[in-house]
Amino acid sequence: MRLSIPLLLALPAIAAAQEQKPLSETVQSWFNKAKSYIPTAAQEPIAASAAKVAAANVTPLTRSNWEEVLSPSTTSPGQGPETWMVFVSGGNKTCYGRCGKVEEAWNETAALFAADPSAPHLAYLNCDKEAILCATWAANPPTVWHIQRPVAQADQSTPATTIHIVGLNATTTTAQELVQIHTQKTYEKRPVYEGAFHPFDGYLAKFFLNKPAGYAIFAFSQIPSWAFMIGISMFSRNIMNRRMGSPDAQRAAAAQRSAPLGGAPPANERR
Ligand SMILES: *[C@@H]1O[C@H](CO)[C@@H](O)[C@H](O)[C@H]1NC(C)=O
Ligand SMILES: *[C@@H]1O[C@H](CO)[C@@H](O)[C@H](O)[C@H]1NC(C)=O
Ligand SMILES: *[C@@H]1O[C@H](CO)[C@@H](O)[C@H](O)[C@H]1NC(C)=O
Repeated sequence: MRLSIPLLLALPAIAAAQEQKPLSETVQSWFNKAKSYIPTAAQEPIAASAAKVAAANVTPLTRSNWEEVLSPSTTSPGQGPETWMVFVSGGNKTCYGRCGKVEEAWNETAALFAADPSAPHLAYLNCDKEAILCATWAANPPTVWHIQRPVAQADQSTPATTIHIVGLNATTTTAQELVQIHTQKTYEKRPVYEGAFHPFDGYLAKFFLNKPAGYAIFAFSQIPSWAFMIGISMFSRNIMNRRMGSPDAQRAAAAQRSAPLGGAPPANERR
């Protein structure tokens, strides 16, 4: 039996509409059905089409677009917060090449959410490509950031943005687990994130320091360790020289250096 991929992806929505069941249950049973329908060998096209749906359904975040992308789409007060799920991934540099499997699961998740009208907004952040943004957020792959963006209230005040960071196991995370972050509210098992690097309400963001801090951390991460060592040794030598500049220190140093030799001070000290 061969099902076309788009039909397969539309199944949970159709089923949910017909049976009036919560989507999470339908997704669960769809997973089981899909698994029994598709022999392992034929899963390749699923991954490919999931990637296609993901590309259409997931907004890539960059250091220049993230604030705009994550800002609430409505200005009418009284609306509930808008929910985002941001998948933080990476390649060989930031995820040590281990994010491939969980990224595939994320793509499947995006395909599943495409059929769910109550799905959160989806975004993707690659720390290999967007190192500065990841430094600004202090974000590490593989994680999902569950973000609830409040809409500004009638009195113009903006309530806090609630963030839960869900750490993912690079080897075992499945699309089902990722879907359940939203459908079963498993993000609530994680503490509310309140660190200094909180992108919207953190200490650094309040003082507009998060971006400079992001650049600084990124810059430091780019300096190879040998350059760092040379820098430190030059810096400390500079300080030593300046200290040696005082007459007392010069005499002391000269005495120290000549003592073991027992002879005349070195040529450059004779002046
Ligand atoms: C996931 O989807 C993106 C498109 O959004 C694609 O570039 C990427 O290769 C896919 N990853 C995997 C592991 O399928
Ligand atoms: C990541 O590393 C693997 C193995 O070292 C290599 O085959 C692959 O091409 C690398 N990927 C990128 C994007 O550099
Ligand atoms: C991921 O799950 C596997 C299997 O349960 C476990 O052995 C491994 O330690 C986990 N990795 C992390 C980083 O928790």
